[in-house]
Amino acid sequence: MILRLFAALLTCGFATIAFAQQGVGWKTGPEAAAIERKVDALIGKMTLEEKVGQLHLSGRGEGFDINQVKAGRMGAVMNFVVPQEVRQVQEAVRQSRLKIPLIIGLDAVHGFSTYFPLPLGQAASWNPQLIEQAAYWTGREASAAGINWTFAPMVDMSRDPRWGRVLEGAGEDVHLASVVAAARTSGYQRGGVAASVKHFVGYGAGEAGRDYNSTWIPLSQLHDLHLPPFKAAFQAGAMTAMAAFNALNGMPATAHRGMLTDLLRGKWGFRGFVTSDFGSITELRLHGIAKDDAEAARKALLAGIDMDMMGDVYHKHLANEVKAGRVPVKALDEAVRRVLRVKYHLGLFERGDVDVAAAPSLMQTEEARKVARQAAREGVILLKNDKATLPIAPSVKSVAVIGAMAVPEDERVWTDPAGLGRRLVQPLPDALREQLPADVTVAYEPAFTRNCGTEFKDKEAAVKAAAAADLVVAMLGEDCEFMGEGASRTDLGLPGVQQELLAALVSTGKPVVLVLATGRPLVLTWADKHVAAIVQTFHGGTEGRAAIAEVLAGKVNPAGRVPMSFPRSVGQIPVYYDQLPTGRPQKIRQRYESIFMDEANEALYPFGFGLSYSRFTYANPRVSREKVAMNGAVEIAVEVSNRSERDGQEVAQLYVRQPVAERSRPLRQLKGFEKVFLKAGETKTVTFRLEAGTLGAHDDAGRYRIDPGLVEVYLGGSSLAEAKTRFELTKP
Ligand code: BGC
Repeated sequence: MILRLFAALLTCGFATIAFAQQGVGWKTGPEAAAIERKVDALIGKMTLEEKVGQLHLSGRGEGFDINQVKAGRMGAVMNFVVPQEVRQVQEAVRQSRLKIPLIIGLDAVHGFSTYFPLPLGQAASWNPQLIEQAAYWTGREASAAGINWTFAPMVDMSRDPRWGRVLEGAGEDVHLASVVAAARTSGYQRGGVAASVKHFVGYGAGEAGRDYNSTWIPLSQLHDLHLPPFKAAFQAGAMTAMAAFNALNGMPATAHRGMLTDLLRGKWGFRGFVTSDFGSITELRLHGIAKDDAEAARKALLAGIDMDMMGDVYHKHLANEVKAGRVPVKALDEAVRRVLRVKYHLGLFERGDVDVAAAPSLMQTEEARKVARQAAREGVILLKNDKATLPIAPSVKSVAVIGAMAVPEDERVWTDPAGLGRRLVQPLPDALREQLPADVTVAYEPAFTRNCGTEFKDKEAAVKAAAAADLVVAMLGEDCEFMGEGASRTDLGLPGVQQELLAALVSTGKPVVLVLATGRPLVLTWADKHVAAIVQTFHGGTEGRAAIAEVLAGKVNPAGRVPMSFPRSVGQIPVYYDQLPTGRPQKIRQRYESIFMDEANEALYPFGFGLSYSRFTYANPRVSREKVAMNGAVEIAVEVSNRSERDGQEVAQLYVRQPVAERSRPLRQLKGFEKVFLKAGETKTVTFRLEAGTLGAHDDAGRYRIDPGLVEVYLGGSSLAEAKTRFELTKP
């Protein structure tokens, strides 16, 4: 842990030693052994009710009973964000008999007071160090407000943009998602809050993208796709996990002993605790596997759910279940042990109360905002740039910014830090004025009543402003009510009346730059044909619009890459790059090939894709050896050149394919990537090290196997990478 912290510090220029001391994580050696003894001793002193109390997680708001804290009947709280209130619950603990500190949780998903891009937008940066720093500052600010536990990162894999929560994940690819999961976990915990990796497991595969819906995941896919990001988070030290709402192959994840106990604790050796999701224990009745809450509580506990989030079910029923002998004391003690273990490893017993007076000055610090700006910049994906419309040319003397989204209404998803910090978020028109030469005029028309764009305020004024300008910048997309939890959609066009506005803007004949802030890849087929340029962001956070202005003005060269394929139409979904081959591949697009009659197979913008103001080329791909033992490794190098007049960042990507193996293998799979900065005209050699052990796949029984044979390697700037080399995997 210490080594890891140190390594993280080295890569993180903004951090100081003082901050590093805030870091939390698993202690090892004699310290860990001492903690086990303390936990045992404490459990020995606890009454049945106090034990159950440790498993009870209740939240701020109606129904919260501080007397339960005073009575030692509550082990955790959530949604307390005002330091004074945090302080009150901390003080209440000291009135309890055993004074066991509370674990204080919050969904600090992409920021606390400083907002970073949505997690999907962070993933679009393909920059794990930067993502680690964003999580670090989130943890740092949250812990300064007294929070010591975050319900993040969400590492659910999803290939379905109909699902509103894809914004919380890292996109469609398991390698990228695993790297991001580890980076976010380390960052949060270095910042001082325990991570809760969620939702275990399969939540992102809900049928038809409908939230909370059932998932059917074959064991091979569960192990190849859905589990690795969890594993990566645990390997990075994640101290807690959250179970999912969905049923996995017919068994609700909240009662899934196979996953929660056999795999997580048994095989993976996870020592932290698992919380339910919000009320998911009582939902076991609705799933049809418990006749009442008592049975739901029993099933969840015995499956391996240690903490009941907001369900009040353990609190009401668990003691009785134990008294009646339906839940063994040993099982209860085990759950309590895990919770207490985390509390000790977090250092909660030694930590003082939140420093109410200091908290505000630790919010939105210059360092945090610097990271937020950089994350916002690097998360911008340039999807289209016809005739070099961008960066805005010197000949453009007037710009019309259209769309209420250009002015922030609300950058928050979930967290409400109750007015801490300055919350200065620059509107896009102001940011553009700052970035463009003084003789360029920037007009602004919101067109809609709200950012969501469901209703016009003044369409005519917007069209008029567009017609009068040299260039139109339309900022559109999805606002909070169209994305996130409980926001599944079947139509992935621009919400409300936004498409109507976009068409009207295009018909002015003026070049239109479409700037998007969304929570998912939308269907942009019409826009792709009709607008001059498309700039995609996944809500850039506090610094989002300022970063967009820098990109539009050419101060920043865009380098974000698509983390999740953009479908051409909803009917194509799921569309993702690492598909398996079929026996009827698309060749000449005729009947009896695996194609759609009315739609292309390919994504509109594929995984890994993103334009730049520079132009990059790849040459001379090569392997360090042609034969690689199945327990060995190989180095793969390629020359990347910036053949343009502008400095820029490129994301060099490495994909593999094994054309013949025991089972079908994906047409391509990402196995490595590196973000490289190249000066105008510069060439760099990028070298990847590939462990042969990562080239296997799981079978139907969940067994991992690596097969000998040819491995094709593709190198380039997207999943369509063209530079090609190969090696042979051989038996050792
Ligand atoms: C979500 C979780 C979240 C929890 C607490 C649930 O509805 O699924 O991801 O952590 O609420 O806010």
